[in-house]
Formats: sequence, C-alpha cells, structure tokens
Amino acid sequence: MAALALLAFGVLAVARVATAQSAADVHFLTNMPPAGSVSTGFVFPTYPTKAFPAGKMADVVLGIRNEGSETYNISMIAGSLNSPVDFNVHLQNFTQLGYGQVIKPGEELSLEYKFLPDPRLEPRDFIVALTAFYVDSQGKWYSSTFFNETINIVEVKKIVDWELLFLILLFAIGISGIAYGVYAYTVSVGWVKSQKKRTRSRRPAGEAPPVMSAEDQQDWIKGTPYDNFAKNKAKAASKRASTAAH
Ligand SMILES: *[C@@H]1O[C@H](CO)[C@@H](O)[C@H](O)[C@H]1NC(C)=O
Ligand SMILES: *[C@@H]1O[C@H](CO)[C@@H](O)[C@H](O)[C@H]1NC(C)=O
Ligand SMILES: *[C@@H]1O[C@H](CO)[C@@H](O)[C@H](O)[C@H]1NC(C)=O
Repeated sequence: MAALALLAFGVLAVARVATAQSAADVHFLTNMPPAGSVSTGFVFPTYPTKAFPAGKMADVVLGIRNEGSETYNISMIAGSLNSPVDFNVHLQNFTQLGYGQVIKPGEELSLEYKFLPDPRLEPRDFIVALTAFYVDSQGKWYSSTFFNETINIVEVKKIVDWELLFLILLFAIGISGIAYGVYAYTVSVGWVKSQKKRTRSRRPAGEAPPVMSAEDQQDWIKGTPYDNFAKNKAKAASKRASTAAH
C-alpha cells in the first residue's frame, strides 16, 4: 500500500516536472519574443574554431549594445544544440543562466555564458543557437539570437588512453595464452621436447657442473644405445651372480 502510494507520488512528481519543463521550453526556445534594438557580437575564448569537445564546458562572451531609447534588463541567456538537418529537432537544451544586468541606451555590456555539450554526442556537425532574453522598463520581453551556426563536436583528447592500454594488455595476455597453449600441445604430442631438462644444463660460468643423481642419469640414458648396453650388462651380472650362488 505504502509502496503504491509512493509510486503514485513518483509518477505525479515526474508529470509535474515534465509540464513545468515543457512550459519553460516552449516559452524560451521555440516561442521567442521579438528582437529589441540591440547589436550583438560574440567570442569563443576557449574554442575559437567552434570545435567543441563533447562533455567539456564551453564558454562564449556576448557583447551587446543598446541601440534603442529604452533601458534593457538582460534577464538571461539560454541555448540549444540542434540537428544540422532540421533545426526544430532540439537534441540538447543548455542550462539557462540568469544575469539581471541593465544596459542604458547607447551603452554596451559583455556577458559570459557557459554551456556543456553532452558527453554522449557523436563527433560531427550540429547547429548551436544561443539567445539573450531581456526586458524593458514596461516589462515587455525581447530576445536576440546572437549565435546560430554550424559547429563541430569533437572527441575529447586523452593524455593517456587507458582504454587503449587496457585493450593492448588484454591482447598481450590473450596472445601469450594462445602461445602457451600451442607450446603445451606440441609438447604433449611430442613435436617439441619440454624445456625443463635443457634448462638444467644452463649454469653460471665457473661453477662446477651439477652432479647427476642416479635418477637423473637413468632419465638421460633412457632409450639410448648405452641404456641397452647397461641393461644387458646388469642382466649378465645378475645371471652370473645367480649361477655363482648355485
Ligand atoms: C528542448 O526544448 C524544446 C522546446 O523549446 C523541446 O521541444 C525539446 O524537446 C527540448 N529538448 C530536450 C532534449 O530537452
Ligand atoms: C533586472 O532584472 C533582475 C531579474 O532578472 C532584477 O533582479 C533586477 O532588479 C533588475 N534590474 C533593474 C535595474 O530593474
Ligand atoms: C537558426 O537558424 C535556422 C536556419 O539555419 C532557423 O531555422 C532557426 O529558426 C534559427 N534559430 C533561432 C533560435 O534563431
């Protein structure tokens, strides 16, 4: 019951947020008030070539000059990132920033606006539109879109590409695993002799050769002509011993 109530409340809250958001969006980005008597300019101090890394904060400086006879109060700057094919497709709406700065007739002002291209954006062309919203002394609203151009979203350049390093490491582990598997297989089918015996003969210079245990000796001579010779000799010796005992 409590869970159901909580769920209902959650749905209500989501619905309310959605309507509040769409009301604001309709007002600010799709139903813009007319332009006032201003001239505008812009500078992108950090990304002057308009190549913006996805997921990195970008900044723009708006220069705005009051060319009319009304005093304007610059209320806020907002913007969006739109499809390069259809401007009506708003892919991302940037955060609105409030200013509340006044420009009298004939005066000008510089305002900094920051926006964050979504880190999930594909590196390619988009349209970015940035708009200043302002109000005159009678409370009449105006807007001036001071930037509306094709921009380029680029991939963030990493100093150390950990993903790539990890892939290389995985690849190396995979390759050595395969190599060991092939080696183990060839040893098991007898194409290659195991390295174990051979490493035994490797010793630092000046050191006396290791003394072979009887067991080692057996291993070394196994299957060689000497082995047969030794076996025959042993057989003969035991025969001799048994005949001597009789
Ligand atoms: C951005 O705002 C517009 C309305 O101005 C709306 O249609 C669109 O869905 C919004 N886009 C996003 C990604 O929120
Ligand atoms: C300008 O607008 C802001 C709100 O956006 C307000 O706080 C401020 O008092 C206004 N300034 C003047 C001189 O009206
Ligand atoms: C930006 O320019 C496009 C045409 O390229 C236009 O359709 C759109 O309405 C403009 N957007 C704004 C906010 O002025």
